[in-house]
Amino acid sequence: MPTLFELYQNIIRESPFAQANEVALRALLCEIQGLIEMSDFYLKKDEEIKDLPTFLSYLARFLNGEPYQYIIQKARFINRDFFVDNRVLIPRMETEEVVYKAIELIRDSNNSSSPSIADLGSGSGIIAITLKKTFPHSQVFASDVSKDAIAVAKINAEKFGADISFFRGDVLEPFIFSGIKLDFLISNPPYITNIQEIDSGVIKYEPYSALVDKDELGFYKKVFSMYKAVAKYPFTMIFEIGHDMKDKIATLLGTMIPLAKWEIIKDINGQERILSIYIEK
Ligand SMILES: C[S@@+](CC[C@H](N)C(=O)[O-])C[C@H]1O[C@@H](n2cnc3c(N)ncnc32)[C@H](O)[C@@H]1O
Repeated sequence: MPTLFELYQNIIRESPFAQANEVALRALLCEIQGLIEMSDFYLKKDEEIKDLPTFLSYLARFLNGEPYQYIIQKARFINRDFFVDNRVLIPRMETEEVVYKAIELIRDSNNSSSPSIADLGSGSGIIAITLKKTFPHSQVFASDVSKDAIAVAKINAEKFGADISFFRGDVLEPFIFSGIKLDFLISNPPYITNIQEIDSGVIKYEPYSALVDKDELGFYKKVFSMYKAVAKYPFTMIFEIGHDMKDKIATLLGTMIPLAKWEIIKDINGQERILSIYIEK
C-alpha cells in the first residue's frame, strides 16, 4: 500500500487542481487515517493508507470539485467539527468572527447570565450551538426556512448536547407566533444577489437559497420591520453582511430604525462584514 505522503505527492504532481487545494487533499487523507488534527498529517505521513478504495472514491469526488467538507461530512467551526452535507451551507471563517463579536457583546451585557438568543437562518446550527455551549444558561432558539437544514442542525445539536429550540419558518415569524422574546438576535442571512461573485464549485454543490436572495437587503428588511414583536430591551442584533453593503445598510437603518445605535466592524481581512445594532428601547 502507498504511504500518505506518496499518495499526496503523486496527486499534487498530476493535478493542478489538487495542488491549488492541497489543504483539502490533506483533509481527505487525514479522514481516511482517522487523524483528528490536520497537523498530524506530517507526523504520520509515512504510514500506509488504511483504506485505499474509499480514498480513491473520495479523490474522484474531490477532483470533480465537490467541497471536501461534504465528502467527509465534517466542517470545523470555532474548535468543533460539525456534521455537514449538501443540505446546508458549509460554515465560513468570516462567520466565526461574527460569532466572536456576539460572544463579546453577550458577555459584556447586563443579561449575560441567562440571555435569550435567536439564530435566524441557522443552517447547520453552528451559530446557535456555539452560543449555547458558550452560555450554558442561555435559552437559544433557531429558525430556518429549510426543513433539510433544520434536520442537519438537529443532528449537530444532539452531537454536542446543546439544548436548542428549532423552528421552521420565514425569518422571525415562528418566534412571533410562539410569543418568544429575545435579548439577542444573530444571523448570517443570504445576501448575495450577483451569482457571478460565487465560485462555480459553490454554485454547483451548496444550497442556492442559503447564499442568494434576489433582494440583497431582503432578509434584513424583514427583520428590521418585525423585530419589535420579539425584542426585550435593551435589544441587540448582530449580522454578517456583504463586504460592499455598508452604505446600503446605513440608509436602511436610518429609515427603518432611526433610533438604533449601530456599528459595522471590519473582519480580519479588513472587510466591513460585521453589523451590530443596539436598541435601547
Ligand atoms: C448563509 S446561510 C447561513 C447558515 C448558517 N447560519 C451559517 O452561518 O453557516 C443562510 C440560511 O438562511 C436560511 N434562510 C434563507 N431564507 C430564509 C428565510 N426567509 N427565513 C429563514 N431562514 C432563511 C437558509 O436556508 C440558510 O440555511
